[in-house]
Amino acid sequence: MQAIVVTAFDRPPEWQDIEDPRPNEGEVVVRMIAAALHPRVRSQASGSHYTSEGVLPLVPGVDGVARFPDGTTRYVAIGSDVRGSFAERVAVDPRASVVLPDGADPAEVAAAVNPVMSSWVALRRRITMPADATVLVLGATGIAGGSAVRVAKRLGAAHVVASGRNPERLAALAGYGADETIPLADTARIGETAAEADVVLDYLWGVPAADTMRAIVTARRDRAARLDWVSIGSSAGAESPIPSAALRASGLTVVGSGQGSVGRSAFVAELPSIVEAIADGLTVPVRTVGAEDVASAWTDADAATRTVFTF
Ligand SMILES: NC(=O)c1ccc[n+]([C@@H]2O[C@H](COP(=O)([O-])OP(=O)(O)OC[C@H]3O[C@@H](n4cnc5c(N)ncnc54)[C@H](OP(=O)(O)O)[C@@H]3O)[C@@H](O)[C@H]2O)c1
Repeated sequence: MQAIVVTAFDRPPEWQDIEDPRPNEGEVVVRMIAAALHPRVRSQASGSHYTSEGVLPLVPGVDGVARFPDGTTRYVAIGSDVRGSFAERVAVDPRASVVLPDGADPAEVAAAVNPVMSSWVALRRRITMPADATVLVLGATGIAGGSAVRVAKRLGAAHVVASGRNPERLAALAGYGADETIPLADTARIGETAAEADVVLDYLWGVPAADTMRAIVTARRDRAARLDWVSIGSSAGAESPIPSAALRASGLTVVGSGQGSVGRSAFVAELPSIVEAIADGLTVPVRTVGAEDVASAWTDADAATRTVFTF
C-alpha cells in the first residue's frame, strides 16, 4: 500500500510504498478517506513537536476520517507518533472514533476537528468558564483561533474579543460571533477592551502573550478577579517573557491545553459533541488534495485554508 512518508526531518515527505499496517490487540485496520495537514502534523513531520521521539521513517497525520470494517464512516484520532493517518490503510483503536452523522462531509470533518477541539477541550476540560464570560482570543486570525471565537460563543460566552494580525481575516470574524475585533499591534486597546476578561484563549504565546498580559492586568479594575489564561498554541514563539508582577499582582492563572494536559479519555469523551457541532456547520475553509500530490501541497499551502489529503 502507499502512504505519505517522512524520511528526513528537514525535507517534505513523499508518497511511497510501505508495509501494510499490523494491528495491535484491540485495533482494526481502516481505509483512510481524508486527513488534514494541521500545524501539529507539520511539527510531527519536522521532529519539532514536544511529543516527538525523533524516530524515522514515519507516517505523519494525527487524525482523519476513515471507512471502518463494519462499513461505517468515522472520524478517528491516532495514538501513534510514527504510524499516523496519512496512509491508505491505518491500524486504529476504534474507541477513539466517532461515526459521522448522516450527510457530514468527510473532508470538512477531517479539517475541523483539530482546530475546533483546541478551544473546546480548553474551555470544557482545563478551566471552568463562568456563565456569561468575556473571552479574549489571541491569534484569532488562524484557523484554530477563528474556530475558538465560534466555540466560545457556542459554549456560553457572552462577549468575545478577537485579536490577530491579518486585517482582512480579523474583520471577517465579526460575521462569526466576535463582538469586537482589535489588531494585535494595538496592545493598549486590547488591554482596555479585555480588562475585565474572564478567559484568554492564547494561540500565540511569545512576546504578544507577555505584552497583552501586562496590558490587561494593568487595566483591570478588580485586580484580584480571576483570569484564566489558557496557552493553546505558540504561533508567535515557543517561549514568552511573562512578567512576574502580572502573576503576583492579579488573579491571573496560566494553564496549558493540549496533548498531555488533556488526557486521552477526556479528549475522546468530547469527540461526539465536537463532530456533531462540525456537522451542524462549525466548519473551517478546506482545500482537498490527492495524497499523491503531497510534495507540492506541502510547500504551497495557503494559510487561509486547511489542506486535506484524500486517499
Ligand atoms: N493545543 C491544542 O490542542 C492545539 C490544537 C490546534 C492547534 N494548536 C496550535 O495553535 C496554533 C495555531 O493553530 P492554527 O491551526 O490556527 O494555525 P494556522 O491556521 O496556521 O494559524 C496560525 C496563525 O498564527 C498567526 N501568526 C503566526 N506568527 C505570528 C506572530 N509572530 N505574531 C502573531 N501572529 C502570528 C498567523 O496569523 P496572521 O494570518 O494574522 O498573520 C497565522 O494565521 C499552533 O501553534 C497550533 O500548533 C494547538
